[in-house]
Amino acid sequence: MDSAEYSSFRRKLVRWYADLARDLPWRRTNDPYRIWISEIMLQQTTVVAVIPYFERFLDRFPTVADLAAADEHDVLRLWEGLGYYSRARNLHRAANVIVKEHGGIFPTDLETLHGLPGIGRYTAGAIASFAYDQRAPIVEANTLRLYCRLLGYDGDPRSKEGQAVLWSFATDILPQKEPGRLNQAMMELGATLCSPREPNCAVCPVQVHCAAFHQGTQATIPRPKTKIAITEITEVSIAIQHRQQYLLRRRTAKERWAGLWDFVRFEINRDDQTVNVGQLIESVRERTGLSIEMGPLVAELKHAVTRYRITLKCFMAQRVKGSLTATDEWKWVKSADFTDYPLSVTAREFAERLQEDGVGCLPFD
Ligand code: ADE
Repeated sequence: MDSAEYSSFRRKLVRWYADLARDLPWRRTNDPYRIWISEIMLQQTTVVAVIPYFERFLDRFPTVADLAAADEHDVLRLWEGLGYYSRARNLHRAANVIVKEHGGIFPTDLETLHGLPGIGRYTAGAIASFAYDQRAPIVEANTLRLYCRLLGYDGDPRSKEGQAVLWSFATDILPQKEPGRLNQAMMELGATLCSPREPNCAVCPVQVHCAAFHQGTQATIPRPKTKIAITEITEVSIAIQHRQQYLLRRRTAKERWAGLWDFVRFEINRDDQTVNVGQLIESVRERTGLSIEMGPLVAELKHAVTRYRITLKCFMAQRVKGSLTATDEWKWVKSADFTDYPLSVTAREFAERLQEDGVGCLPFD
């Protein structure tokens, strides 16, 4: 595109955005703190899923100082169910950096933003352009797809070359006046009409500027990600009971769902789908220091995490004797107090079953 075509593209897109954009809570503000929270939540998560979390989070932590002063445990509790929990831990860390190193004032400079925990090039550009109207480019999932189609770019958009092409386009397209609004409009077009499958080109305001539309290559651009192989695994989750309390363990920094609490949980033999009770009891002893008596299987949950498809067998058990290892962080918790702990999604589901009438005291009383 030459500069006249850029102008024409922007005019059409901004008019479309003014008429048809969705009214989203983070678009009604230019508070960098709110924009930051929304952008972190929106990574790998849909707008519909984010809205209630966004509102609850800001009610509880209305300013960066409130977030910095919070306990990580409470931040994770509010994040529970959104997934990718390192996002919440990084938010908390970055809030502390802003309070300690920037006097609680949100940085305005793109480089400083980019250096904060959890803030990459895209998020820094989103904050700088939406909150401060700086000419900062953005490339994320929606705009990546849009730019590839506009340019007819059929290489790998995640390669070094692809990234250079896209960031360079994202920079050149920005106007001097209200670049933040153009970024929002491009993201909105990518998120709505320029969808991954069957984009709605018939009503697209910038159809005439789109190389993929002219070539009829919308279905193959952008080039799909190379598929990762899925591995099936089986894990057990064991709710060990003792004096009307259950044993919870805090997941460590090296594990998935770090910082969240869970029942005793581990993978069992990949090939052998049957559960060997003697082996379970021995594994629990090694991991916890406790001797247990196994109770019934109360649930079988299926879920997917990264490249794993997990079948989770949820058992009850009773502590018989022994004391807990000092290497892990443990808590004995009454089922009524589970709500105070941030749990993994499957642990919450299991916990809710344990809280249901009867199940909590069925097997051993
Ligand atoms: N996805 C990522 N950021 C977004 C935003 N600001 N509005 C809508 N969808 C988004």
